[in-house]
Amino acid sequence: MSDIATEPDSSTRSQRLKAATHATHDRLDRRIMAGDIFANRDNFARFLRVQYRFHCDIDGLYANAALAALVPDLPGRRRLPQIASDLRDLGQPLPPFAVAAVRADLPLATALGWLYVAEGSNLGGSVLYKLAAKLGLNSGFGARHLAAHPDGVARHWRGFTAALDSVALSRAQEDEAIAGAEAAFQRVRAHVEDEFA
Ligand code: HEM
Repeated sequence: MSDIATEPDSSTRSQRLKAATHATHDRLDRRIMAGDIFANRDNFARFLRVQYRFHCDIDGLYANAALAALVPDLPGRRRLPQIASDLRDLGQPLPPFAVAAVRADLPLATALGWLYVAEGSNLGGSVLYKLAAKLGLNSGFGARHLAAHPDGVARHWRGFTAALDSVALSRAQEDEAIAGAEAAFQRVRAHVEDEFA
């Protein structure tokens, strides 16, 4: 039988991604904050290196044609240059080049999952930006990549989630998007374990 009744799911895809990764995100937040990243600039630089390494991993996504057709201003959402500037501001060398975890031609659903993590991190980033002020860091020095987008954090985020929520995906692709987001969080976590060891 193909017409088994199921409860209609009224949640959006972005809400489902948030729910599916909530526990992983929560553990990551705690792990990073336990690293006392606002105690001094050296500690904050560890967080910057995590960000740098993750954004190197995903850099190919910003040249992904399917993503670019869907997500407004995809190239403008790339933050690797700002993270590199933040590290240079603090007199830190850039972490050595490593093989990126993600191919540029990742299938759309998986790519959306990875990009969800990068874009969503801007929401927490606005909290971190305020805390970074006590280290003398701001949008022009050391915390450039955490500064709010000129459109406003919430509006910029809604631009992404509207695109994420609008695209038609099969059930299997839904699962791929969640797996992509989970893999992205795991990758960040691995960088944290390296940098905060
Ligand atoms: C590189 C590390 C991080 C990544 C990849 C990340 C990822 C994300 C993602 C994907 C979201 C969007 C959730 C949604 O769908 O609404 C988010 C939101 C948020 N994050 Fe993080 N995050 C990181 C670090 C942190 C840290 C260290 C904090 C510490 C306070 C934090 C606090 C928050 C807050 C307050 C929100 C917004 C509230 C919410 O919607 O839950 N994040 N983050």
